[in-house]
Amino acid sequence: MTALKILVMHGPNLNLLGTREPQHYGMQNLSSINASLAELGKGLNCTISTFQSNHEGELVERIHQAAGEVDGMVINPAAYTHTSVALRDALLGCNIPFVEVHLSNIHSREEFRHRSLLADVATGIVAGFGAESYALALRGLCDVLRAKGGDKNGVDKN
Ligand code: DQA
Repeated sequence: MTALKILVMHGPNLNLLGTREPQHYGMQNLSSINASLAELGKGLNCTISTFQSNHEGELVERIHQAAGEVDGMVINPAAYTHTSVALRDALLGCNIPFVEVHLSNIHSREEFRHRSLLADVATGIVAGFGAESYALALRGLCDVLRAKGGDKNGVDKN
């Protein structure tokens, strides 16, 4: 079984995890979340790369770079979830299967967080489980990609 390549992308302000509004986002910081995912990835036979930016354009550029390079993405678009046509278009334009992740349950919070510009084109969505949301998303994405029979070295991804 060839290893899957997964990019885990974190949007704005997620570099502040650990100290940022712990009632919503918990106490775990970003490097600890990334380290746990890398460890989980070993068990799932997938290689994890990670990227965080506070800038929409940098996230778009990284998605472009990931096209043809990764099998799928786990993305917490953070505030851009609710605003970014550019991220939606980049993910669609590069045809990368992705799972949308949120630490908090966005549907139990302010009204403006209920809308996601990515959700309807996502393979799946996980929200409300804190840092565990990322792990659930990674497991789900790997299952779907393997069921589709695809990795970058495989025969058919569709
Ligand atoms: C978030 C939820 C967003 O509404 C918020 O802007 C974030 C984090 C989450 O992980 O719960 O920055 O994506």
